[in-house]
Amino acid sequence: MKQANEEALLSGATVWVTGAGSGLGRAIVQRLVEQGNFVIVSGRRRELLTQLSFDYGNQVKVVPCDVSDSFSLSQAQKEIFEITDYLDCVIACAGLCEYEDNVSLNIDMYRAAMEVNFLGAVSTLNIAKPLLIQSERKAVFVAVGSLVSQLPFPRAEAYGASKAALEYWIKSLHTDLHDASWRVCLVRPGFVKTPMTSQNDFEMPFLQTPEQGAQAIINGIASGRLIVDFPRRFSLMLRFFSAVEGVWLRWITPKMSRAQHHNTLSNRHL
Ligand SMILES: NC(=O)c1ccc[n+]([C@@H]2O[C@H](COP(=O)([O-])OP(=O)(O)OC[C@H]3O[C@@H](n4cnc5c(N)ncnc54)[C@H](OP(=O)(O)O)[C@@H]3O)[C@@H](O)[C@H]2O)c1
Repeated sequence: MKQANEEALLSGATVWVTGAGSGLGRAIVQRLVEQGNFVIVSGRRRELLTQLSFDYGNQVKVVPCDVSDSFSLSQAQKEIFEITDYLDCVIACAGLCEYEDNVSLNIDMYRAAMEVNFLGAVSTLNIAKPLLIQSERKAVFVAVGSLVSQLPFPRAEAYGASKAALEYWIKSLHTDLHDASWRVCLVRPGFVKTPMTSQNDFEMPFLQTPEQGAQAIINGIASGRLIVDFPRRFSLMLRFFSAVEGVWLRWITPKMSRAQHHNTLSNRHL
């Protein structure tokens, strides 16, 4: 029965989306509502979420939440448990991206990346798990990772490490869920034009719109796959380079890096 319901997963379902106020999360919510789902939307900025409920009426319920704050999470948990006693799908889309600047090793930046991109997803599942188990469908927890975790990119030390942690965690969970009533899925987008990437001052190959990204994510979830990569051409290109990582590290990334090191003999401690 659960198997049969897999295809219809994202129609008439109850879904919780974090990071729902902008970018990919917002486009996912819009698509889900159009497909006739009921969506609980979370993020820190209440005004962005309220706009969604204004647009979509009682198909959207607002539960503001900071996924890196335990008090905020426990408040959100109470509210979600009052709204529903099951969830068919949870999409952990909340995320942040900051770049390394000249290997500064700013520990606050690393901590924030891990707290939101990795631990935030763990906390989201922690809240959702009892409700996913109650679903009458093969429920799914979806983590939004990134294609960055396929290969090391310059300046992405903090962001990439947090997404790599997320990827390992999801794959490891998958190994423990083979006969469970719910499953996990990792989505790895390439570049999507959102507020997050508006800071990027470099060329973004195969850039997609949030609407294209949302459709790829929803199709990928419905396919039942563990890993959903898009866009396909960018993912295939990165897969090729990850098979020859030595070439990537030696010939490609030096052209992309901006770090400047002033390691003259006089300032080295010999
Ligand atoms: N855009 C891309 O090219 C791209 C590529 C690969 C992966 N991704 C991933 O896709 C996801 C969505 O990113 P986006 O591109 O759509 O950027 P975005 O528009 O900046 O969306 C990120 C969302 O996360 C929310 N958020 C941030 N910190 C949070 C926290 N502590 N608690 C709860 N919500 C928080 C933000 O809302 P509030 O500030 O209101 O909380 C925002 O709505 C992220 O996980 C990102 O890493 C994006």
